[in-house]
Amino acid sequence: MVIAIDGPGGVGKSTVARRVAADLGLAYLDTGSTYRAATLIVLREGIDPSDQDGILTALDTHRIDYGESGVTIDGERVADQVRTERVTANTSAVSAHPLVRDRIVAIQRRWVDSRNGRAVVEGRDIGTVVFPDAPVKVFLTARPEVRASRRARDAETGTATVDEILAALEARDSADASRSTSPMRPADDAEIIDTSDIDIEGVVGAVLGLVAAFEASEPEEIEGLGR
Ligand code: DC
Repeated sequence: MVIAIDGPGGVGKSTVARRVAADLGLAYLDTGSTYRAATLIVLREGIDPSDQDGILTALDTHRIDYGESGVTIDGERVADQVRTERVTANTSAVSAHPLVRDRIVAIQRRWVDSRNGRAVVEGRDIGTVVFPDAPVKVFLTARPEVRASRRARDAETGTATVDEILAALEARDSADASRSTSPMRPADDAEIIDTSDIDIEGVVGAVLGLVAAFEASEPEEIEGLGR
């Protein structure tokens, strides 16, 4: 069973998804880190982020994977390197290419398959494209200024002001939501949760409530959840 958690940056997806996965004893996959790893390869190799063919050729020669300590490239742990401002600023462009997405989505689906299809998966298009049959789908939102001030508390945003972070977040949201392939949007059957005025405990509780409601309606899935 896949629990899909989508939404824009700074909304609390990672924290919530990790907590839900730990509570349910499921694997956790941060799909943004796989697009970030592709972007790190692009930047390291000096490829133009608008050059889809160049990116595909580079991806042919590297292996992106995801382990206990996060994303890897050819076995090298790059979880920190993929969170620099430079990578963040270029990931929307790299992830907008349809054939690049096909490659990365294949990695994500294989990874979940290797966990017997039991995982909490966070991203932008999990409920709509990657796992459209996920029985529990959540789309987290929050007011932009709330997301920017949350991001300002992350070490990765360095010395940037809240206004600068807000501008970068809005530019990224607009690129991610307006691309023609797999734009960021809630699935028709997703539960939309506005996290602006709810703390993490509250959001985790709401997601666990949805899982419990699903279990109650499909009792045979309880075993699948490992509980
Ligand atoms: O969740 P994140 O901030 O690490 O994601 C980084 C970028 O990756 C985001 O701006 C868009 C892209 N992304 C995507 O296109 N599809 C996903 N499922 C996850 C991330």
